[in-house]
Formats: sequence, structure tokens, C-alpha cells
Amino acid sequence: MSNKVNDRSVDSDGSQNKAAEHAVSQLLRNNLREATANAHRALDHHPILSPLLRSPLSTEAYILALRALHGPQSALETMLYGFAPREAFPGRAADLERDLARLDVKPYPVLVTVPRATDYATKMGAMYVIEGSNLGGQVIARQLAQTLSPELPRDFFGRAEGYARWERFWEFAMQYLAEDNIAKASEMAVDVFDFYRAHLNSVLQHTPIPD
Ligand code: HEM
Repeated sequence: MSNKVNDRSVDSDGSQNKAAEHAVSQLLRNNLREATANAHRALDHHPILSPLLRSPLSTEAYILALRALHGPQSALETMLYGFAPREAFPGRAADLERDLARLDVKPYPVLVTVPRATDYATKMGAMYVIEGSNLGGQVIARQLAQTLSPELPRDFFGRAEGYARWERFWEFAMQYLAEDNIAKASEMAVDVFDFYRAHLNSVLQHTPIPD
């Protein structure tokens, strides 16, 4: 595997051009956001996820979403294991597993192909998707506070860290992403969103949507 593309420790004169770095970061962020906008929309409008923002929300619809989200969350965390520091980016599958155990339900198995990350660009593309899901997770957590029975467990959404973690992610990402590999990372990110959707569709084939 090649070296980090933006290793700051080898900066030639030891100084950093903050403004230029910021501009590149914005370019890369926009690139990923624009490349995945349609795929994100398809996912947040998916019949398994869209009820999470509706009021009222049935317990069955909430549980179905949790059972369906576990497969991709866990598959992607396994794929990225060891890539990013655990202290800064703790896995979230354990929170989801705790919710499922308390609800006494099992996750749906993954029956579709998981995209493979083979280098820094593809790993970053996959990590972008899984880290970004925390932003939506925080929005969902706020909604659940209004719509979900208080006794139901909600660690997965409730412990999503939102923008502080998102900024940490971008700090980390800038060591690996650059203009010459952003297209590859974006392609992977779209594949990962498509993988989520394919998995949710496969869940739908086995389970009717609850009211
Ligand atoms: C009902 C489900 C979802 C809702 C309501 C939702 C909502 C949101 C919101 C509000 C943002 C922040 C947008 C901004 O501040 O610019 C966001 C960002 C993001 N979400 Fe979601 N999301 C959902 C599901 C997901 C899922 C399942 C994934 C991943 C598989 C995901 C990946 C992302 C990513 C990568 C971003 C960052 C976009 C960027 O580059 O700025 N989201 N989402």
C-alpha cells in the first residue's frame, strides 16, 4: 500500500499553508457530497428508513430499521477494522447490538455483496459513508425523543456523535485524500450507499413494512 498522500510530518519547510489546505479540504468534501447526493437521497427516502423521521413512529417500524441497519454497519466496521484509531472513531455496531438484545430481536443477515476496500482511497470512501451516517443519526435521535416510547432502547441513534466526530473524520481524511484519488473514493462511497440500499431491499423481500 502506498504512503499517506498528505503526511504532514514531511512538510518540506515545516510550515503549513492553512488557507490552501482549507480550500483543498472544501473541494474534497464537496466532491464526495455531490457524488453521493442522489444515493443518499435514495437511502433516506427508503421505506425502511423514512419512517424514522415521521410522527407517529410505530415500535415495529423502529425495530425493523434497527434490525436492517445492523448488517451494513457491522460489515463496514469489520472491513475498516484497524484503519482508523479506535479511540477517535469507536465502532457503533456494539450500540446497535445492545439495542437489539434489549428488544430481544435479531439483525437481518447480509445477503448482498459487500463492496471491497483495497487501498486508502476506497477505505476513505467507505469510512466517509459510515461516519456521515452519524449526522443523520443525530437528527433521527432528536426526532425519536419526541416519537418513541421512553422505555425503548436507543443507544445506536442516541449515541451518534454528530458534527464533532465529523470534523475529526475530516481531519483524519485529509491525510489520505487528495485531488488525484477523490474520484476513486467517491466511486467507492456511491458503491457503499448502493450496498446499503441493496441490503435494505433484500430485507423488504422478507418482511412487509409495518404500519
Ligand atoms: C433516515 C435516514 C437519514 C437521514 C434523515 C439523514 C440525514 C442526514 C443529514 C441531516 C445530514 C447532514 C447534512 C448536512 O449537514 O449537510 C446527513 C449527512 C450525511 N449522511 Fe445521512 N441521513 C440518513 C441516513 C444516512 C445513512 C443510512 C447513511 C450512510 C449509510 C448516511 C450518510 C450520510 C453522509 C455520508 C453524510 C455527509 C454528507 C456530507 O458530505 O456532508 N445518511 N444525513
